[in-house]
Amino acid sequence: MATPQTYVAEDERLPLIIGFQRVAENTNQITRFIEHGRGIYVYDTDGREYIEATASFYAASLGYQNDELIDAIAAQYRELPFVVSALHRTSKGSLDLAEKLTEILPVADPHLIFGSSGSEAIDFLIKLLRFGSVARGEPERKTIIGRHGSYHGATLASASVTGGHHAEFGLPLPGFSHVSQVDYHGDREPQETSAEFSSRLAVELEALIADQPMGSIAAMVAEPISFSAGFKVPPPEYFPAITSVLDGHGIDLVVDEVITGFGRTGNLFGAQTFGLKPDHVVIAKGITSAYFPLSAVGLGRDLYAALEDGSEKIGTLAHASTMAAHPVGAAAALKVMEIIERDKLVDHAAVMGERLAKGLARFEDHPLVGEIRSVGLGASLDFLRRDDADCIVNSDADEVSLAIYNTLLDMGVVTRPAGRNIVIAPPLIVQGSEIDEIVLRVGKALDLVQSQR
Ligand SMILES: Cc1ncc(COP(=O)(O)O)c(C=O)c1O
Repeated sequence: MATPQTYVAEDERLPLIIGFQRVAENTNQITRFIEHGRGIYVYDTDGREYIEATASFYAASLGYQNDELIDAIAAQYRELPFVVSALHRTSKGSLDLAEKLTEILPVADPHLIFGSSGSEAIDFLIKLLRFGSVARGEPERKTIIGRHGSYHGATLASASVTGGHHAEFGLPLPGFSHVSQVDYHGDREPQETSAEFSSRLAVELEALIADQPMGSIAAMVAEPISFSAGFKVPPPEYFPAITSVLDGHGIDLVVDEVITGFGRTGNLFGAQTFGLKPDHVVIAKGITSAYFPLSAVGLGRDLYAALEDGSEKIGTLAHASTMAAHPVGAAAALKVMEIIERDKLVDHAAVMGERLAKGLARFEDHPLVGEIRSVGLGASLDFLRRDDADCIVNSDADEVSLAIYNTLLDMGVVTRPAGRNIVIAPPLIVQGSEIDEIVLRVGKALDLVQSQR
């Protein structure tokens, strides 16, 4: 299957800008136009079939063409296609969804505020944290800590929490600081244990806090596993070390479950997989299996109390978003949760994840592979290699990753290149034979790229 990897000057430029690529690569020669999808497969306008082994950026968790979900969305369109959520009215569906989420979110006694994207949800939470600080009489408490390599969104504030790509956008905004990503494979000193590594990162966080004006930090935002950083699985000592620093300074923990929520890590939420007790949680993507843009923040009890109290003093909470709490999104989310529960998709995904991990494990000794990590129905191949003395031996891991990604794309498998890694995380509905097919093609891609070196 020949796929053009380069473009020539006379290629037609498309009348749109596509993200996460060079702007000048916006041509009809190298863009695949996806026309339809079925199950875990998508098909482009040339009739090529691809296994969407990332659920399309970890979002289409029920795969494509789920008739039951489509019917629920269509029914909601007929009943109530839209009503705004503001000024003492909202849709019945958004209340039902909020009630459902209060039962399942990994935050004690949460209140919900909805948005249309993960980015918006992060921004809304940051605004509400600031409102809460003002209400408590400590308006200077507004700094947010993120981690290098993590991704939290495209808007100004969420891109500021994101740990990278700042300079070209004139970011971060004031009030955002970053600590190291938990990259044990890449960043450990030779022979450093995971406990030593984790306490080193906790010391770094402590130092960053000490460096800021007293009482100026509102929250730290972290994903249970950073997929954008290359599926960096935290060692068991990491979160206990980090959260004990945060607790010592009264800093809230925000868990970004935009990717890890709704079954990806073998539990309904990644916080459960890593034993986290977040103050607030952010969800999007899989909440509607991406069939409708919807996101939400589950706010913790203390912040909600501060908002209520602050609003008594300040007046109206001057925040709403026209499309947020959309009744069609609410109907989609409720149906997705019904399907996940009824079909035991979290358990199914965990079993499929074990099969994926077992399949990929056979490449552990492949000459290109440095490490294979997996949790739930997510895995990554890391092309940074270490020798017997635990020293890094290669500097071409990013190029290898890109070569494997492109080769797999040519073989009809969509993975996600993330620096020196490729990430695999198919829809939750994937079947055993499909996992085996992904593994088979990964093996072929590894051998092909190796043979071309
Ligand atoms: C962990 C995480 N948080 C937030 C976002 C932003 O979500 P959205 O793209 O829906 O704005 C993303 C998007 O990929 C993400 O991966």
